[in-house]
Amino acid sequence: MPAKPASTTSEADAAAGVAELARAKINLALHVVGQRPDGYHLLESLVTFADIGDRLTFMPSDRDRLTISGPFSGSIAPDASNLVARARDGLRHLLTKRGLTASPAAIHLEKNLPVASGIGGGSADAAATLRGLLRLWQAEAFAADDMDALALSLGADVPMCLRERPALARGIGEDLSPLADLPALPLVLGNPLRGVSTPEVFSRLRSKRNPGMEAFGTSDWITLLSRLRNDLEDPARELVPEIGEISALIAAQGARLTRMSGSGATCFGIFASRAEAEQAAAALRTLRPDWYFQAAETVTGSPSSPLSKTPN
Ligand code: C5P
Repeated sequence: MPAKPASTTSEADAAAGVAELARAKINLALHVVGQRPDGYHLLESLVTFADIGDRLTFMPSDRDRLTISGPFSGSIAPDASNLVARARDGLRHLLTKRGLTASPAAIHLEKNLPVASGIGGGSADAAATLRGLLRLWQAEAFAADDMDALALSLGADVPMCLRERPALARGIGEDLSPLADLPALPLVLGNPLRGVSTPEVFSRLRSKRNPGMEAFGTSDWITLLSRLRNDLEDPARELVPEIGEISALIAAQGARLTRMSGSGATCFGIFASRAEAEQAAAALRTLRPDWYFQAAETVTGSPSSPLSKTPN
């Protein structure tokens, strides 16, 4: 049986197709505090999400399709190994087991973010696929409880990307405590357009047991963040020495704090205002036209359902 429509509006939405923004994930800080027997690292990470990202659309179709466009479409293949296809197949399997129909869908991915760059990428695309197909198939009410487990089976960062809200992430990244009072932060993102292998960065870590985060006793986030670190930055710099240069270039534009996100190589700088961030990004693009620089602003920590999304 098909999933029962929640309302006439969502029925109309689904017929016309749905759209999702797969927001760039930013690790404002990332401490590696241990390692599990299976090799995955235990983290404490402050994560948030930007107002830029890949764009996905989902349309009813006669058969499953996946097409990719955008500035970074050349770096990934639209085949079954793509995290978007894996998310679609995983969700269909789950719904079919429940006797629901998950009809064929044409998915289009506009790849706007550099690939293998420490800002979510494939994880955000997988999470957006789960959200988008749940809406297309009008199945939110039937699958919401299982989404976190399905998301985690696709990657350690996929559960946080489902929510796209500021959080303190623990475990391997799946144990999420919302950070409701994290303000919107104007940013510049910079990347030297050299992909980085996450497992390789983790394998170069000298210490797997670093100090965790102290209790957050300040209302000034810049002061707090400046006391924190990204433990993956040193090993990533061994692989991509340009990380140091990108960070210094962003700092020289007046950033209040610069750091690498995730396993790199994307670095971010926090600016006093969106206008300053835009100005800095424009100046950096002139200085290094061969690199990626983009102004953005992070989302705030307003409460929202993990799966509630407005079309973008
Ligand atoms: O879970 P995901 O496939 O995104 O992780 C990619 C790789 O990054 C893992 O295979 C693992 O080598 C490494 N990783 C890790 N610890 C984490 C997250 C990822 O060691 N918490």
